[in-house]
Amino acid sequence: MEKLVVLTGAGISAESGLKTFRDSDGLWEGYNIEDVATPEAWQRNPALVQEFYNERRKSVLEAKPNTAHFALARLEEKYEVTIITQNIDDLHERAGSTNVIHLHGIITRSQSSINPELTYPINGWQIGMDEVCELGSPLRAHVVWFGEAVPMIETAARICSRAELFILVGTSLAVYPAAGLINYVGPRVPKYIVDPKIPEASVRGPVMKIQEKATIGVPELVDRLLNK
Ligand code: APR
Repeated sequence: MEKLVVLTGAGISAESGLKTFRDSDGLWEGYNIEDVATPEAWQRNPALVQEFYNERRKSVLEAKPNTAHFALARLEEKYEVTIITQNIDDLHERAGSTNVIHLHGIITRSQSSINPELTYPINGWQIGMDEVCELGSPLRAHVVWFGEAVPMIETAARICSRAELFILVGTSLAVYPAAGLINYVGPRVPKYIVDPKIPEASVRGPVMKIQEKATIGVPELVDRLLNK
């Protein structure tokens, strides 16, 4: 089976009701990154950071996968698919995709604040300020903050370098190292970009730009790839 790699960002979950970050009504319009998404923010005001991610988790649990998530899951009928997502929601998994790498963590799990490798399932939508890991330190959301290492990036780069087909959906490619992954995909590998606002980053080789929302562009592309 051909190896197909899909890199997704917040845009694929926008029509599930989850806000993107950098669109005009995006999350970073309402919050300062420095206040809620950095290790320094957690040092300064852990309760505020906890509340921010508890709210994100509540929205994720209330959201449902959309036709774009479901269409990507269908690709497994014909391709060896890896989805590399920057999203912290679990909508790809709930749509049935079986091989998903979460570059920036996943909001449905908690993480030790002193050892990022210690992660746990969460009961409900809130992590309490009194909850601790097995080492006794407070639990936080299992997400990668600005300024933190991205542990899965090397695995993701290796997978991109082996891709035979590549699809990019709903990301502005504004945040590194994730945005650099596209450079690991071979120059002759066919690439598809689905986004109502095609990101400006230069992409080498054959690119098909599908300037559509995910719920329109992705199912159409998937039908085409399954009937190829
Ligand atoms: N369908 C497809 N794409 C869409 C849709 C839609 N319905 N609506 C918006 N988009 C596109 C936008 O045009 C934009 O290119 O989704 C992209 C969203 O970009 P960002 O908000 O920057 O989100 P993303 O690229 O995922 O951000 C990367 O930044 O803050 C961090 O850690 C966070 O993982 C996130 C990272």
